[in-house]
Amino acid sequence: MANTNLANAKTAKNDEFYTQYYDIQTEINAYLEYNPNVFRGKTVLLPCDDPEWSNFTKFFAQNFETFGLKKLISTSYAVESKRITDWQPTLFETESPYFDVDKTRTHGKIYVLDHDANANGRIDINDLQWSYLEGDGDFRSDEVKALRDESDIIITNPPFSLFREFVAWIMEANKQFVIIGHQNAVSYKEVFPLIKDNLIWFGVGFKGGATHFISSYQDIATAGNHIEGMIRVSGVVWFTNIDHGRRHEPLPLMTMEDNILYSKHKEIRGKSYIHYENYDAIDVPYTDAIPIDYEGIMGVPKSFLDKYCPEQFEIVGIAEGDSGKALGLKPYPRVLKKLNPSLRDGQLYYIDDEGIPQKPYARILIRKKQ
Ligand SMILES: C[S@@+](CC[C@H](N)C(=O)[O-])C[C@H]1O[C@@H](n2cnc3c(N)ncnc32)[C@H](O)[C@@H]1O
Repeated sequence: MANTNLANAKTAKNDEFYTQYYDIQTEINAYLEYNPNVFRGKTVLLPCDDPEWSNFTKFFAQNFETFGLKKLISTSYAVESKRITDWQPTLFETESPYFDVDKTRTHGKIYVLDHDANANGRIDINDLQWSYLEGDGDFRSDEVKALRDESDIIITNPPFSLFREFVAWIMEANKQFVIIGHQNAVSYKEVFPLIKDNLIWFGVGFKGGATHFISSYQDIATAGNHIEGMIRVSGVVWFTNIDHGRRHEPLPLMTMEDNILYSKHKEIRGKSYIHYENYDAIDVPYTDAIPIDYEGIMGVPKSFLDKYCPEQFEIVGIAEGDSGKALGLKPYPRVLKKLNPSLRDGQLYYIDDEGIPQKPYARILIRKKQ
């Protein structure tokens, strides 16, 4: 059963997952807390959306006046391009005077909110105007690109399978954005340099680094985590280039001496920090075990980015593949391959107590801000 469901999810490339209202609200509130005028007078585009399903359009339309938006645009992707077979248009669409049986499966839709269309004295979700797009609503199409260029801020949960392209699409137009992605996207060569240079960062995020998305695929979460009609995905984060307060809160940390005396982690308490064999840096397996008085380079887990405060630390690089090689990680001596066949050039390694070379999990290299 679990395998069938996973196979289904893979066929759809994990793209038909819809974000919960609460998750959108929690994240957007963090930007508003930091700057109450962050959306004032702005045009917000919600691409790769589907207002008949999605909570992004609902959330921003309901808050149009409170946020002081100038214009809200939301676009959806055609059903045929999504390769969904068991689909029927909603009553909302079929009963609308704009319904077109020739376009319903093959064309994307655009929803616009910018005035009090029903003249009831306020601008809200009931004033959304819709029509079919010329094409299927692909974010890479010229017509959606033109909408991108017209807008100030892009917000969505883009298709996981096109995440790299989606980030490049935003960056080439130099827009502000708040989008959902997987933590592993940090290592993409299109993404990491932007993180290193503080051009993009993590948002406030999902509690425990995981959330449930609304999905018709059943998930394979353990019974305790399973919610009917939803799929649980771990390692999801928000990527953004809009400022929020959490990223300016320095992490409270102990000195190296205190970590060794008091750390709650057995790998640290009563031991010393491991030094890598092929790079001048120490291994810090937990973000809360970063020694605040260490002046050199430290290898930390990717989840450090959840707590990263650019006034406290700087990012030196990522110890993976070509990026690791470019940083100057020395190749491992080939004789070690016999002891650990998983060693790879461009990755860090250290020698454990038994004399066996070991690779830590993927590490980001950081240093205390000078
Ligand atoms: C992860 S879902 C998120 C939907 C919605 N934004 C939400 O979070 O509730 C991504 C959506 O993008 C659509 N999509 C896939 N490829 C696309 C493309 N090339 N252009 C536009 N949308 C696309 C998918 O069909 C899917 O509906």
